[in-house]
Amino acid sequence: MCSLSYNNYPILFISMFLLLLLLFCLDTLKVAGYGDPTLGFTPIPLTHANLKLQKPYDIPLNQRYSFKDGVHRLWVYADDKPHEPTSRTQPRTEIRILGLDYNSGVWQFEGYGFVPNGTSGATIAQIHGAAHGATTLILRIYNGDIRYYSRDLVAENLYDRWFRLNIIHDVDGGIVKVFIDGEKKFHTNDKGPGDLYFKCGVYAAPANISYYMESRWRDIKIYRL
Ligand SMILES: *[C@@H]1O[C@H](CO)[C@@H](O)[C@H](O)[C@H]1NC(C)=O
Ligand SMILES: *[C@@H]1O[C@H](CO)[C@@H](O)[C@H](O)[C@H]1NC(C)=O
Repeated sequence: MCSLSYNNYPILFISMFLLLLLLFCLDTLKVAGYGDPTLGFTPIPLTHANLKLQKPYDIPLNQRYSFKDGVHRLWVYADDKPHEPTSRTQPRTEIRILGLDYNSGVWQFEGYGFVPNGTSGATIAQIHGAAHGATTLILRIYNGDIRYYSRDLVAENLYDRWFRLNIIHDVDGGIVKVFIDGEKKFHTNDKGPGDLYFKCGVYAAPANISYYMESRWRDIKIYRL
């Protein structure tokens, strides 16, 4: 029955056809968002009141931030002042998600980010707060690549293009996952529960920073499980 004769050609043909159909269906599911990191999560409606801007304390906001056609553009210079006169931290222009601090459960940040070529040594997104240390997650861009702090490589070649960033923080499970363009790129243990919140923008790293730092964000969303 399995010997190749002319009689088997129709069966072979139908098998090939079914295989192609299956591949096509799988591809369609992928396009439809199958495996989407937000699947099963509930979006929390955000207003501008949920987006608190932090910028060098001695400069008006419009010199470090703009909002046009749905795009938040944030920039900062290496010799800018910190966000508060009493702070000893590096300069930043960041959106701090306000009113949705969490300390348990499973939370997710989503945003479409854009980093122009030349920006380096800047934290572009973070989870602020932890039981140990100031932050749970720092995502920094160095020469077009995103790293976990200055260490593990998360994703490469991100300059000058929009990418979708999803961060899932399972506080109860103690795990953080990072997705770029829907694909899981990185996971790590968190640093214990605390007063936790998401941020995005530009925050200068302690070293190896470019003079000018910029990131753009649109369609920022918060979800919970
Ligand atoms: C970024 O700019 C540098 C200097 O102009 C250039 O050599 C490099 O190819 C650029 N990188 C990308 C990803 O465009
Ligand atoms: C800065 O960059 C240099 C050269 O790549 C590297 O050796 C050093 O570890 C970096 N410093 C930090 C704090 O990342």
